This record gives sequence, structure tokens and C-alpha cells, in this order.
Amino acid sequence: MTTATSAAKTLSQPLSLPNGSVLPNRFAKSAMSEALGTLDNHATERLPQLYKRWAEGETGLLITGNVMVDRNALGEPGNVVIENEDDLPMLQRWAKAGQPALAGGQGHIWVQLNHPGKQIPKFLGLKTVAPSAVPFEKALQSTFTTPRALTAAEIETIIERFARAAAVCEKAGFDGVQIHGAHGYLVSQFLSPHHNVRDDEWGGSLENRMRFVVRIYEAIRAATTPGFAVGIKINSADFQRGGFTNDDALEVCAKLSDLGMDLIEISGGTYEKPAMTGVTKDSTAKREAYFLDFAHQARERISAPLMLTGGFRTAEIMAEVVESGAVDLVGLGRSLAIEPDLPKRILAGENAASQVKPIRTGIGMIDRMGMMETAWYTRQLARMADGKEPVIDENGLKSLLGTVASTVFRSQKMRRMRG
Ligand SMILES: Cc1cc2nc3c(=O)[nH]c(=O)nc-3n(C[C@H](O)[C@H](O)[C@H](O)COP(=O)(O)O)c2cc1C
Repeated sequence: MTTATSAAKTLSQPLSLPNGSVLPNRFAKSAMSEALGTLDNHATERLPQLYKRWAEGETGLLITGNVMVDRNALGEPGNVVIENEDDLPMLQRWAKAGQPALAGGQGHIWVQLNHPGKQIPKFLGLKTVAPSAVPFEKALQSTFTTPRALTAAEIETIIERFARAAAVCEKAGFDGVQIHGAHGYLVSQFLSPHHNVRDDEWGGSLENRMRFVVRIYEAIRAATTPGFAVGIKINSADFQRGGFTNDDALEVCAKLSDLGMDLIEISGGTYEKPAMTGVTKDSTAKREAYFLDFAHQARERISAPLMLTGGFRTAEIMAEVVESGAVDLVGLGRSLAIEPDLPKRILAGENAASQVKPIRTGIGMIDRMGMMETAWYTRQLARMADGKEPVIDENGLKSLLGTVASTVFRSQKMRRMRG
């Protein structure tokens, strides 16, 4: 039986990555979009403030919320964009805030790099691109437009953007980057035969569909030094008919592991099927560690360290999955948005469990959407960034209305600023 003391012992073990760096313990903060940048997409002081809070909570690896590689391709107003070195001083402060001295060594902080592709909400007023011009399913067509298919030259430009942003991250002092290859964003769109119906070298066979992510990985490696970590977050499946399957995911993980990926984080779902936060009819959502079955399968096939994210709530299960060898790092999202010191308490031998529970408005249609929970948790991040405490029992509907109002206001302001 796993006791609180044995869980603490298991989770306090350092972890060596292929690039030689050592993570101080087995906790990782999964990316959560902070939207704490300015409306012209520069990092602000609120980011180091927030990350200081998480660093004090003793999470060994902090992965930032998605940072975009193109200012014309955003997921929400206030996303940070890295296209050049203009923001180096603030990025340096952000990196520093995430690197505390911990019992197992220095904490690490990586930047999650993303391009949303077709997943740019209409209210941002930006044009959307994707591997192919495939429309969203009906329920989401009022939120997202049908994208334009990328040209081959544009694909090369986006690959270069990922590499340039990674080089800036290294210069700023971050320990690594994570390619966002999950949740239906551009990399994940390329991998999916539903979203990618190209008949050139970027589409068709799985080898062609994974060319985009392989090329991004290689370009980042070429632009950074060997000690800089490169990881990926990838879907175990999209849970979409005709989409990216478990078998596809295993093949892609095997390829990326062979190439030398330092960490593979497993998640799942898209806006159309939001399995990442457990908003799904799939049975995996009924228990902790939603994508554990896939992690076991991946472990059989690959040597790269594995991080599993989605649904972890108790120290006992976190320790068990690490102990079983299926997973090397426990990824936490929502728990850390309301309890930034949860890892510290578990590492101290406390029998702690996350207080995350479903956030509901009471309106079924809204509650089935992934964006609903995201809105609620984003508000908690903003509170911590301002030195306040999260409000664990904030009303779902009130929070949603507040977020919608502020997002509409900020989007309009952003559009006016851009002219
Ligand atoms: C507010 C919020 C923002 C998120 N933003 C991102 C993001 O930028 N990139 C990403 O890969 N996942 C994002 N996610 C998904 C989380 O990383 C994680 O996969 C998900 O919350 C499941 O883990 P959990 O059960 O521990 O919360 C976000 C989740 C939340 C709640």
C-alpha cells in the first residue's frame, strides 16, 4: 500500500533527461495559458509573479502556458508572442522566477511554443490557416471559421518561427521548450487525417503527416545548444472519427523518442472533443490519470521520459503510476491553478489530495464545452499573478460571464490597436 511517506519518497526522486539535465522531482506543471501578456503580446511582470508562486510550491518542472510564434496567430487576447529578442529583459525575469533551489536541485522552466492554426476564435478577427481547409463540426462553426490551407512556403516559415522562438527562449535563460503538439492546434492538425487531407509531402501517410513536427523538432535542435531541453505535448488520440488514433500516436511517439526528444507529455482531445480536462463521454475520464492506458502502451515502445497529464488528484495514484514505471513525471494543471503548493505538501509527506472538482454553470450545453473550465481556471491564474489567493468556490456562471465580458472587451481593444 502506498502511504503518504512512501509517496513523498517516490515523487521526490530526481529525473535525468536525455540531454543531461536533471529535474529535481517528479512533479511538472502542465501548460496553462495565462493570457497575462499585453494586448500587443508582450510578456508582463505578472508572469514572473505567478511563476514565483509555483516555484515556491516546489514543482520541479514548470511548463509555461502556450506562447505563440506568430503575432497574427493567437488563441486569446493577451497571449505572449516571441518573434524576436525585443522582450529579453522580461523573459529573463520570467525564466529566473521559475528556477528556485529545491531539495533535489534547481527547478526548471520550459516555454510551451504553439501555433493555433485553425483554432483562432472568430472574435479575435484574425485569419486562420491549417494544413487543409476543413471546416469545424457544426456546433463550433459560430466560434471558429473554416481555415485556408497553408502553402508549402508558409509551412517552412512556421517551422522557422518555432526555431527562432526557441533560440530566444534559450537566450532568455529558460531551460527548454515544449512543442504544443496536442489539443487540436496546428501541429496536432497536421498529425490528424481528419484535419490534414493534403496530397503533398505534408499529408496522406502518417510519415507525411508527422513531417511537420519532425521538422520543427530538428529546426529547434539546430537553433539551440545540446543542453537545452526539447519536449512535446502530444495527444494519445483526438477522440474524433477519422482523426488521430492511439496507433498513430504510438508511432509518432516512437519516432520522436528515437530522434532524441527529452520529454513526451501525453494528453488527449481537442476543442471539438475536450478529453484533456475530462469533459468527454470516454470512460477514461471517470478515474484519475485519464490517459494512463496509453502511457503503458507508449512505455513498451519508447525510451524517452514520459509525462502524463490529465486527472491526477491524489498523492497515492501519482506515486503509484511513477512506481509502476509507466510514467516518469506527473503533470498537473487545474490542481496547481487553485493549490500552487500541492507538490510541496505531498513532498513533505502530507496525505494531500487536490480539491479540483467539475466547474458547472448549470447550463448543459455550456458545461460540455472545454472552454468553460478553462475560463474559470484562467481567472485563478490572474489572481495569483496579482498576489491574491485563488477562490476555490467561485461560481461557475459568474466566472464565465466575467471572462466572456473581459475577453470581448480585450479583443475589441486589440483589434482597434491593430487597426
Ligand atoms: C486554464 C487552462 C489553460 C490551459 N492552457 C493550456 C495550454 O496553453 N497548453 C496546453 O497544452 N494545455 C493547456 N491546458 C490543459 C492542461 O495543460 C492540462 O492538460 C489539463 O488541464 C488536464 O490536466 P488536469 O486534470 O491536471 O487539469 C489548459 C488547461 C486549463 C485549465
